[in-house]
Amino acid sequence: MKSATSLNDYLVVNQNIEPVLTRGVGAEIFDEEGRSYIDLEGGPGVASVGHCHPKVVEAIKKQADLLLQVPGRYHSRMTLTLAERLAGLTDNRLKRTFFANSGAESNEGAIKASLKHAVNTRKQGYGIIAFDHGFHGRLSLSSALTGLSKQKRGMATFGIFPGVVHVHAPYCYRCPFGLQNDSCAMKCADAIEDAIKTRMPGDAAVMIAEPILGVGGVITPPEGYWKKVQEILARYKVTLIHDEVFVGFGRTGKWFAHEWYGAKPDIVTFAKTIGGGVPLGGFIATEELGTAFDPPDHFTTYGAKNQLGMAAAHAVLDVLQSENLIERAQKAGERFMKNLQDIQRRRPMLGDVRGKGLMIGLEIVERGGKEPAAAAAKKIEHAMVARGGLISTTGVNGNVLRITPPLVISDAQIDRACEALDASIAEAGES
Ligand SMILES: Cc1ncc(COP(=O)(O)O)c(C=O)c1O
Repeated sequence: MKSATSLNDYLVVNQNIEPVLTRGVGAEIFDEEGRSYIDLEGGPGVASVGHCHPKVVEAIKKQADLLLQVPGRYHSRMTLTLAERLAGLTDNRLKRTFFANSGAESNEGAIKASLKHAVNTRKQGYGIIAFDHGFHGRLSLSSALTGLSKQKRGMATFGIFPGVVHVHAPYCYRCPFGLQNDSCAMKCADAIEDAIKTRMPGDAAVMIAEPILGVGGVITPPEGYWKKVQEILARYKVTLIHDEVFVGFGRTGKWFAHEWYGAKPDIVTFAKTIGGGVPLGGFIATEELGTAFDPPDHFTTYGAKNQLGMAAAHAVLDVLQSENLIERAQKAGERFMKNLQDIQRRRPMLGDVRGKGLMIGLEIVERGGKEPAAAAAKKIEHAMVARGGLISTTGVNGNVLRITPPLVISDAQIDRACEALDASIAEAGES
């Protein structure tokens, strides 16, 4: 059998690494040799109901015998009822859904609807606010929205879109203003108003942001942050899009992460979890934003028409509800946090442990300070694979280990993963 490394030469250059994975059950995944790993990445964030949940697999198989794709302009009852179910998750405050194939497409569609709404309401400008450290995908507009230059450097004009202005993220561990958490008065939120007044080419039309940032290093805004931002945006009639592609559908211990902050975004974008592994995404909007388009304005061949995605999504929602996985995410997150805070007391390299539910970031720093330690974080990632745990490093400095396992992860698996992390951090510190 040819090695994966040599076969990888048939793919466009990528960051794939060993092991070669073949099979998954719940939070466990197996490689070609039958070795098992605890999946601390979950897809990333895709396999929230667990790998190959029997109900999701059964729904996909059943649908595959009936119809794979609804042609063009015709209704599908599964699509209609899925949209109705999604609205129900927000008590119908958000009502109209557009279905897409991926997170990036969902965000681009949401921005398109917001700009159309800005045109319809005769805004005097089309400024788009996004976060430094934010991540919204790798298509052209979504790259432009992303506030991580390493994701787009060297791509000529590919990641440039007119009117995008980046503002500081509420990154308390590395406060952009050098302030302390309890005395900051959330200056980073006020800075959004400054940006609207001084840095926009005309009116600001829309802000897009992850309510809790993922790829940027699991940045968790302080309490009250989103309410304050919403007050500012409301004064300037700026649409708020929350990108819940990573954190939506229970990962943080609420259906949507913005609920932690009492925020009321005009649009929420989603993907990952909802398809249970089948590509599906979309955005759900208020009546006003959801009726901004004229009928032919926006469409994709798959999305709403992909019946395997629809079948999987109904099953994923059923499982999230019947197995109380939202509550489970919160409890499992608390167990992780307690274990990780114990480890932090012993290991000075673990500079910060943060997150909500099963959206957890571990910031690895040089001992005795806060200097980002990217090489050590990579060593921990590799040491974890050797100990049977899959975890990834992320963040602008590459020094944040991200824990986003399936929500079905068991207490025993959490404890085993934490033991492996403790040993791997110790090993990275010694070498
Ligand atoms: C917050 C967020 N938005 C958008 C995306 C892009 O999603 P996709 O890779 O499905 O295009 C991601 C992917 O990780 C994400 O985390």
